[in-house]
Amino acid sequence: MRIGIPKEPAGQPLVSATPDTVSKLVKLGYEVIVEAGAGANASYPDQHYRDAGAEVVGPQEVWQADIVTTLDTPPEEKNNQLREGSVLISRLGVRIHPEIADVYAKRNVTAISMDAVPRITRAQSMDVLSSMANIAGYRAIIEAANAFGRLFTGQVTAAGKMPPAKVYVIGAGVAGLAAIGTANSMGAVVEATDVRAAAAEQVESMGATFVEIPAPAQESSDGYAKEMSEDQAKAALKLYTEQAAASDIVITTAQIPGKPAPLLVTAEAVAGMKPGSVIVDMAGGNCELTKAGEIIKTDNGVTIIGYTDLANRLPGQASQLYGQNIVNLLKLMTPEKDGKIVFNLDDEVVRSITIAHEKDVLWPPPPISVSAAPAAPAAAGPATPAEPEKPKSHAIRNFWYGLAGILGIALIAVTPFAMLPYYIILALAIVAGFYVITNVTHSLHTPLMSETNAISGIILVGAIISLAQSTSWVVTGLACLAILIASINIFGGFFVTHRMLKMFQKED
Ligand code: NAI
Repeated sequence: MRIGIPKEPAGQPLVSATPDTVSKLVKLGYEVIVEAGAGANASYPDQHYRDAGAEVVGPQEVWQADIVTTLDTPPEEKNNQLREGSVLISRLGVRIHPEIADVYAKRNVTAISMDAVPRITRAQSMDVLSSMANIAGYRAIIEAANAFGRLFTGQVTAAGKMPPAKVYVIGAGVAGLAAIGTANSMGAVVEATDVRAAAAEQVESMGATFVEIPAPAQESSDGYAKEMSEDQAKAALKLYTEQAAASDIVITTAQIPGKPAPLLVTAEAVAGMKPGSVIVDMAGGNCELTKAGEIIKTDNGVTIIGYTDLANRLPGQASQLYGQNIVNLLKLMTPEKDGKIVFNLDDEVVRSITIAHEKDVLWPPPPISVSAAPAAPAAAGPATPAEPEKPKSHAIRNFWYGLAGILGIALIAVTPFAMLPYYIILALAIVAGFYVITNVTHSLHTPLMSETNAISGIILVGAIISLAQSTSWVVTGLACLAILIASINIFGGFFVTHRMLKMFQKED
């Protein structure tokens, strides 16, 4: 099949494929045609596309391809050029304009809405909203730094001390976390707030301090935040006003899907900010004084940046991520790597984003529950008993603990007296190891794995020495067991590390 990459309309500097992603599409068995000049605004010349295996064609031919990829819903005259039975992959904005599905179903064009990718782990590599929000979060800090009249990082110089800038981020989703990471790497002191309690750990892992709202709201089953109650909103507004007054830079990204951006920084809060402070309102509506697409300066010297195209301000990188999201989707939909797209509508990702297929409207898709979200509270039912029953898994766990204890005592009973100190050391090591490992935070599991690999190496050497010197069947048995388990950990660790490294390698 042929994939067409058109030149985007004026005002859209991105392109839906870069020379790098074109070469990946070619490897999937597709022929790629690129409209002349399509990548010019993102600094990708035509010759680079040719070198990557694409053919550079005119504006008519590109829309006749079997699959056409664009950034946003094409203008009507371009839609009319799409062939019947062809596939359009684009950000179609179907959540806001559900009627778009009907337009393509009537024309017998299969429409894939890249901005409807569900927020589940398996679909992360195709999530264009996250890709763009990530870049936009970075750019928000660059814009803020540009408007801010001082350094971000604190310094002690011969001429005196310079304090670090204080950055406050409201909404620690994809964009917020990218902004936190960028501000932190530039040396600012960063604080952040989110209504989702689960965001605290992520904020802290990016090097910022989490500032809690006195009454946090809950996360919904689709991984996004729920709207706040009136009391929560009041408490949040008070916190944001105090924090804004104490900060140099405020980045707002708070958004609940399908709702207008909530008002978080009022005109009164802006009036309480220091002259020279900067607000970047990414969600466009979090600050009362924001003017969409503009930069304004208030009477008290606060700059408010309302740009709505932050990701477009880094077109080369944004195009690369967008193109890679499409490559990842087509990898999923081209199982044979034979250049033929397959619509497996039993696949929840494919089903969620295919909004029109074979003249049928497929929007909205059936709901998907997100594993990252907390389990929904039980529906109204009998009151919770005062003494809750122990879950079954606890009983099973206790059984295994008991069995391990009995086996340990039996082993001690048959062991020569001289070996008892070794048992004590082993038992203490197991207890200490158990508590250390189970208390390690999730985000540190990768370094922990490296460390256990090193420990396993020591165990392996010790077990081999013990085996060589063994005069008792107990020692021989334990040494063999230790060699087996340590080897599984070491070789398994190398195997997993190898697979992880492959994820970061370029395919060629
Ligand atoms: P996201 O859904 O990942 O993050 C939004 C976060 O805001 C969530 O963590 C949510 O819990 C939090 N939140 C919601 N209400 C809140 C409240 N009242 N107080 C504190 N936190 C609250 O969304 P993502 O992808 O990070 O995007 C954020 C915003 O940035 C969106 O509005 C998006 O449209 C916008 N955006 C703007 C761009 C621009 O150029 N200006 C470019 C890309 C994204």
